[in-house]
Amino acid sequence: MRPWAGCLVALSSAAVASCSPVQSALSPEGDKAQNIAMLFWFFTAVCVAVWLIVMVLLAIALFRRRPTGATPMLSGDSDRERRVGTIVSGGIAATVAVLIVLTVASFLTNKGFAGAPDLALTIKISGHQWWWQAEYQAHDPSRRFDTANELHIPAGQQVRLQFESPDVIHSFWVPNLAGKQDLIPGRTTQLVLMAAKPGVYRGQCAEYCGAQHAHMAMFVVAEQPDRFARWFNAQINSARAPRTAELRNGETVFMTHACATCHTIGGTDAGGQVGPDLTHFGSRMTIAAGTLPNTLGNLEGWISDPQRAKPYTRMPSVALQGSDLLAVSQYLESLK
Ligand code: CUA
Repeated sequence: MRPWAGCLVALSSAAVASCSPVQSALSPEGDKAQNIAMLFWFFTAVCVAVWLIVMVLLAIALFRRRPTGATPMLSGDSDRERRVGTIVSGGIAATVAVLIVLTVASFLTNKGFAGAPDLALTIKISGHQWWWQAEYQAHDPSRRFDTANELHIPAGQQVRLQFESPDVIHSFWVPNLAGKQDLIPGRTTQLVLMAAKPGVYRGQCAEYCGAQHAHMAMFVVAEQPDRFARWFNAQINSARAPRTAELRNGETVFMTHACATCHTIGGTDAGGQVGPDLTHFGSRMTIAAGTLPNTLGNLEGWISDPQRAKPYTRMPSVALQGSDLLAVSQYLESLK
């Protein structure tokens, strides 16, 4: 690709990104993201101003008429040497001043991100190749639960996210709400974020973590506090017991195949810890960390051949016949 074509692509991508509120640091919807966006525009304004000044000075230097035959720095013109010395010193001083201002602005923006001490909601997030595990913490063990790839938070409230990684380095990034935070094996890191208003905000792993790094997305669903409380109270419950013969059949298929050794379904014998907790799988928007919309057809396709949608995923193909595949998919979709 020619350099100018690359610039055009970069510019148009930036324009598209700035118009899309779904996943864009330029559409801030939380206090942290707002500060980062302000810092971005401040940096941009300063850099544009510096660039314009340099271009104007360059144009003056190029097009100014000079006396013919002069050899500027060898002429022994002490006045001129003094003038040049002043200009160079001024340029260095201006550069240092700009760098100091940008550094201080950056530092002040970062300083504002130090966590608030007491928050009502803490969610422990583990990054796995390639999905997000979310454990909602509570003093009362009966109010803790585990979910995946979709965080629900109350709008307008600061929420503490604590990060760990059992495998490689990942990075949690929901651009509309906050900056990036790395998940580092052997360390606990944290981020406090807030969504100013209800909405669905897409996030993306921002640190290359293997073949399916790009398919390691998550959604943050910010809801009015009463709606969030309803969601929370539904998530605490065990899985809904199957109500029809077909769903009961689906549950049996799940329990008697490899599914139950990798996944947990609360209130059943399935207690696997390898893959996402599926207790309320049917209430989630996507399958496989944002890879597919959560529909019955997509779920059947995913279970029968996960490598097709997400090559190298740890999810194995489970040999299921047509009616068993449909039954287990319907059972999982019924887990609201
Ligand atoms: Cu996880 Cu990239």
